[in-house]
This record gives sequence, C-alpha cells and structure tokens, in this order.
Amino acid sequence: MSKVALLIDGHEVSAEEGVTILQASRDAGIDIPTLCHHEDLAPYGGCRLCTVEVNKGGRTRFVASCVHQVEDGMVVQTESEEVIEGRKLILELLWARSPGVQVLREYGQRYGMELDKFAVSPTNCVLCGLCVRYCAEIKKKNAIGFINRGTEKAVMFYPEIAAKECATCGECFKLCPTGVLPSNYALQRVPHFEWPVRPFSR
Ligand code: FES
Repeated sequence: MSKVALLIDGHEVSAEEGVTILQASRDAGIDIPTLCHHEDLAPYGGCRLCTVEVNKGGRTRFVASCVHQVEDGMVVQTESEEVIEGRKLILELLWARSPGVQVLREYGQRYGMELDKFAVSPTNCVLCGLCVRYCAEIKKKNAIGFINRGTEKAVMFYPEIAAKECATCGECFKLCPTGVLPSNYALQRVPHFEWPVRPFSR
C-alpha cells in the first residue's frame, strides 16, 4: 500500500494510504481523545471528541479524526485553540448527561476544566453507541439499539432478543464508559417492568 506524507502537530508523519488521522496520530505517538471509537468496530464518528483541525490547499476544516482518512500534504492540528474550545463544549454536554464518568473527568483534567460546576441533567448514557455497534457488528445479534432522536435519543435492549441472547453474553457491559449498562439491563429484566420511552433516563 502506498504512503502519504502529512504534518501532525508540526511532526512529519508518513502514513499508509487509507488509515484515519486518528490512527496515524497514534502511530506517531500523538494522543487524541476518543469516546465512541473502538478498534474492533467500524468507524462511527458519533461523539466528535476526536475532532481535529485540518488544512489542505489553504482550506481549513474540522473533521472527526476517527473517520477521516489521511491525505498527502495535509496539515493537522490536534489541539488548536478552536479544537480545544470545541472539545471542552462537548465534554460539558457529555458531563451533563453522565456526571462522574471517569473518562470524562480525565479529559476534563487534561483541559483544565472543572466539570463539576456544570449543570447536570443525568441520563448516564453518553450515546457513544459502543454497546449497540458491538452487538450488531461483532455478535450480530442486535439485542440493543437506539430509540428516539435529539435530546430524547437513548439506548434500549430489545426484550424479545435480549431475553434470549444477553443472559449468556453481557460482553457489551465492559465497553460502557459510564458503567450504567449492566444495571439498566438488570432493571429491564424485572418481571412486569414497563419499558420506558427513555430507558436510560432518571
Ligand atoms: Fe471520533 Fe467519537 S471518537 S467521533
């Protein structure tokens, strides 16, 4: 496979054509925050935490590094002022959905944020989709999926499939960055439990 040459944070990087900016950066020892990315799953680009600034031919764009591929002559800034501002905003919004999540706390510390000061309306789900995609792509069971849209978007187990498949699996639980998945699964297995419209909301 042919190589492309690009600059990432001022470092000359040679990367294989077709790899993502995230992969090329990691191979070069440059860490970019991620939340919904998983090496075993197809590119998703949901959380936008990995957004970087890209300049090519005098044109600047902001792209999700976990889905955007490297290009020859590309200049990438993984922590420009605008990138960090955007990342902080995303972290604030995610924190409001899922306060106390360790990975968010660590990213907040990285950018000198006091996340605890932000108003909170917790759902304990950051909508990274790792559980949904793992079940669909790796297990090929589709026992869990997204429902609703916008601020009402949530994740739920589909009872008719989950009842058969999840008791002996549970592999998605360890992927959940908030840790809420096992308890929600247990909650949804309670007899006579009425399935809510927003199962992960308090
Ligand atoms: Fe790239 Fe979530 S890690 S969009």
